Amino acid sequence: MRALALALLLVLAGTTAFADSAGVVGANSFPQKTGAELYRAICQGCHMPDGKGAIGAGAYPALAGDANLASAGFPVFYVLYGQKAMPGFGGFLSDVQVAEVVNYVRTNFGNHYTDAVKADDIKSNRQPDYEYYTLD
Ligand code: HEC
Repeated sequence: MRALALALLLVLAGTTAFADSAGVVGANSFPQKTGAELYRAICQGCHMPDGKGAIGAGAYPALAGDANLASAGFPVFYVLYGQKAMPGFGGFLSDVQVAEVVNYVRTNFGNHYTDAVKADDIKSNRQPDYEYYTLD
């Protein structure tokens, strides 16, 4: 399962690197800026375009109507560090990008948590010296 997740991540990151025509964005970063763009580029492959998740080769929980998103720290943790079959994206995304995609899932798909997180909140959630997964 983890191997599958990593393979998918490689595909996602690879696609993104090629999509950048200027060639300045490496395989370890995503050019997308808004939460919606980041969701489409990264999250929807597993959590589905409607956020309802899926059960197939693995189980991808729904983010739609997800009471676990009430506390912003919960999705921030998942996006930065991952958990079980979900890879962490903290090594690929800036603090601003993590905040954008977290705010997006917390205010879409039937979620209405309007206490938006800011880049500084992400920064303070990053563990010093944590070795993020990257493609190096
Ligand atoms: C490779 C597939 C994959 C991708 C890509 C992915 N996730 Fe996940 N996600 C999962 C899986 C699998 C779980 C369940 C992990 C577990 O068992 O704890 C999960 C769990 C979560 C949870 C916890 C949900 C809950 O209520 O338990 C959140 C929040 C989440 N993901 C957000 C995101 C966001 C935001 C993105 C995009 C930045 C993303 N995920 C990208 C596979 C993925």
